[in-house]
Amino acid sequence: MAHVTSSDEGPVPSTPFGVPELVGAVAGARRVLDVGCGSGRLTVALARAGAEVTGMDTSAERLAEARRRAEEAGVPLTLVEADMGEPLPFADASFDAVTSRLSLMVPRDAVPTLRELRRVLAPGGRIATVVWAALPENPWFDAPREAVRAVLGDGHASFARAFGRLGDPADAERAHRESGLEEVAGQLLREHVPRADATEHWRLLATENAHFRRIDAALGEEERRAVVAELEARLLPYRTAGRLELPRTLVLVTASRPG
Ligand SMILES: C[S@@+](CC[C@H](N)C(=O)[O-])C[C@H]1O[C@@H](n2cnc3c(N)ncnc32)[C@H](O)[C@@H]1O
Repeated sequence: MAHVTSSDEGPVPSTPFGVPELVGAVAGARRVLDVGCGSGRLTVALARAGAEVTGMDTSAERLAEARRRAEEAGVPLTLVEADMGEPLPFADASFDAVTSRLSLMVPRDAVPTLRELRRVLAPGGRIATVVWAALPENPWFDAPREAVRAVLGDGHASFARAFGRLGDPADAERAHRESGLEEVAGQLLREHVPRADATEHWRLLATENAHFRRIDAALGEEERRAVVAELEARLLPYRTAGRLELPRTLVLVTASRPG
């Protein structure tokens, strides 16, 4: 199982995209498992909403960040280092709800993972997952990666290959149904991120997204100028009233374990 070692998140707003919807989808559940919890942005939001939350991730470093975030927020979290591609270290029916934000696209086939999530859910328990929608719905990410490809070559653009996997609501719904979940409903969540221009978008990506940070750090001045010029051209369709409005789209699926 390949592990994501860096964030696929774009510039991170104070309320990360999709978090309110995920918290709302499992509102009222007491024991919640957050799979691929990373640095705990969703995990802590769930705990703040009153749930007893367990966060699970393969990255000890991310779990340490989640622990710090929970301490700062003054909420308790149980954090477990475990792999969603393996049998989960939890008894059957241990949780009233399961969430996963931007991690279910990591396994090549999400169905075995979803079956495990169904097993640890109590009968009637709910699951809510989000992944990035397909690349054409996410030019904030697709355009800079393609600009890197055009200027630096394929070898520099082969990161985050899972981005867009399960990115069609019908595919994501099917995976949940095949795992034995019911009441499956998928929807797209949309927002636009405002940017002055490509220079600003590149600078923010290079600050806040680990993939672009790594690429930017290796660029000379000339190369950076060429990448940003290429990006400016690719973002032209999103220029409106003198600024950029870059679409970002998630697929949210909610489902439940048969009672
Ligand atoms: C894009 S981050 C999302 C983190 C968090 N859910 C959020 O919303 O900020 C993806 C997370 O999935 C974790 N991950 C990747 N492969 C995993 C696996 N096989 N099992 C559990 N977690 C995994 C990564 O370590 C990373 O923290």
